[in-house]
Amino acid sequence: MQEHAYQQCIRADCGETYALDEVLFKCHKCGGLLDVAYDWDKLTVPRNLRFFERRWGTSGRHLVGRADYSGVWRFRELLPFARLDDIVTVGEGRTTLQQADRLAGLLNMKPGCLFLQYEGFNPSGSFKDNGMTAGFTMARFLRRRRVACASTGNTSASMAMYASMAAPPGEPPVQGIVFIGSGKIAYGKLSQALDHGAMTLQIEGDFDACMRRVVELSDRLGMYLLNSLNPFRLEGQKSIMYRVLEGLDWEVPDWIIVPGGNLGNSSAFGKAWMELRQLGLVPKVPRLAIINATGARTLEELYNERSLRWNGGRINDEAIDRRYHEMDAAGQRAHTIASAIEINRPVNLSKALRALDLMNGVVRHVDDDTILDHKAMVGRFGYSCEPASAASVAGLHLLLDEGVIGRNERVVCILTGHGLKDPDATVKYHAGIDAKMAKWPDPVPPSGCMANYPVRVPDDLEAICRVIGEPTRS
Ligand code: F0G
Repeated sequence: MQEHAYQQCIRADCGETYALDEVLFKCHKCGGLLDVAYDWDKLTVPRNLRFFERRWGTSGRHLVGRADYSGVWRFRELLPFARLDDIVTVGEGRTTLQQADRLAGLLNMKPGCLFLQYEGFNPSGSFKDNGMTAGFTMARFLRRRRVACASTGNTSASMAMYASMAAPPGEPPVQGIVFIGSGKIAYGKLSQALDHGAMTLQIEGDFDACMRRVVELSDRLGMYLLNSLNPFRLEGQKSIMYRVLEGLDWEVPDWIIVPGGNLGNSSAFGKAWMELRQLGLVPKVPRLAIINATGARTLEELYNERSLRWNGGRINDEAIDRRYHEMDAAGQRAHTIASAIEINRPVNLSKALRALDLMNGVVRHVDDDTILDHKAMVGRFGYSCEPASAASVAGLHLLLDEGVIGRNERVVCILTGHGLKDPDATVKYHAGIDAKMAKWPDPVPPSGCMANYPVRVPDDLEAICRVIGEPTRS
C-alpha cells in the first residue's frame, strides 16, 4: 500500500484518522463513515486529464498492461492507495458513454444533449465491478480469504465473480459469502452468485435486515466486508465519473443523474468531483440528481420534506433516527419493482448528502410504472438496462417537466446494470398483461406504455403474412 494515503472520518466535529490497513467500516470514535484520504501534495498526479488517454493503447499480461486494461486502474493516480502488484483486476470498467439522440428526441431534448453511461458492459453486468476491483485489491493486501456482503443482487454477483478469480495460482481460494433477502433478488443476479460458487444465504427478511447481520458478523467470522460501507470500494466507483469525462472529451456535463439505493455511487461521484476540483483538473462541477423509487424513498423524504442537509459535516442524526423509528413503528418496508434499489436504510446517507451539497444536487422519486416505461424507452433506442437503472431516465423526464433541467443542457444518466439481470420484469412488462394480449392481432398499448407484445399467430403462411403486412413501396 502507498504512504500518503490513510482513512479519515468524514464528520466535521471528528475527522479521526486511521492507517490504511486498519480494518474498520465506521469511525471508532464517533461512528461516522470513513473516506480514503490522500496527501495529494506528496503524490504525483497528472496535470491534465488527457494524460490518461494514452493508456487505452496498452494491454497485456504484465502488471502495467493489466492495470491499464482496466477502466478503473487506468486512472490509478486518482485513487492512489494500491501498489501495482496488489491490484486484482478482471478488466472491469471498459464501459461506454452512448450519445442517445433518439431517446433525447422522445424527451424533447436537443440532439447531443443526452448521454447514457452504460455500466452494464462490466464483466458481471453492473457498475459494482468498478468498486469490487478496489475492494478485492485491499482484501489481497490484507491477505483476507473470506469476503462477505449483503446484497439486492448485483453486489453479490460481482463479489462472487471476483472471489472465484482473486486467488493467485498456488494460493488457497477466496471464500465469498453473500446475504440476500428471501424472494428479494432478480434471478439473473442470483444465478451469478450460485454459478461463481459463493455461499449464498437467503435470510428471512429484506436488504436492510441482511445489511445489519453482515455488519454484526463480519468481525466475529473474519469476513472482509465488501459492501459500499467499505471506503475502498467507493474509490473504484469514482472511475465512472472519469470515464464520463473522457467520453465527453474531458468537458464537464451539466448534470449527472443516478439511481439511489445504498447511495454508494452518489457518494463516490461526489468524492470524485471534490478531488478533481481540489486538484485543479476540472473548471467546474456538474449538478447531481439522485433518483429513488417511490417505494424506497428515505433520502428523498429526508432531503425534501425534512430538509436534511450535509451542513458542513454536522448532520442532524436525530432526524434520521426519528425517521427510521417511524418506519419501524409503522412496519414500513421498502418495496419496488426496481429490486436493486429496494433499500430503506441507505448506509452511505451522510456521504450522499455531502455529494448533494458539493454538486448543488436534487433528489426525486419515481414510481414503478414510470420506471418500467422508461426502461422500455431505453431499450427501444439503445442498450437495455435493468429497472433500477431506468430510474435515472425516468428522473430526468420528471426534472425536464419540472423545468429544473433545461432541454438543451448536457445530461448524463448512469445505466447501472444490464437488461438481462432481470428478464422477468422485462417480459412481464411487454407480454405479461394477458388482457391486452387478448386483443391480438393489433393490441394498442395505453399511452406512455412502451409494451411490445408478442403477437400470437397460427402456423399458417397467409396468417403470418397478414400479421407482418405487405412491404410499403415508396
Ligand atoms: N442500480 C443497480 C443496478 C444496483 O444494483 C444498485 C445497488 C443501485 C443502482 C444503487 O446503487 O447502492 O450505490 O445507491 N445495488 C446494491 C446491491 C445495493 O446489493 O447490488 P447505490
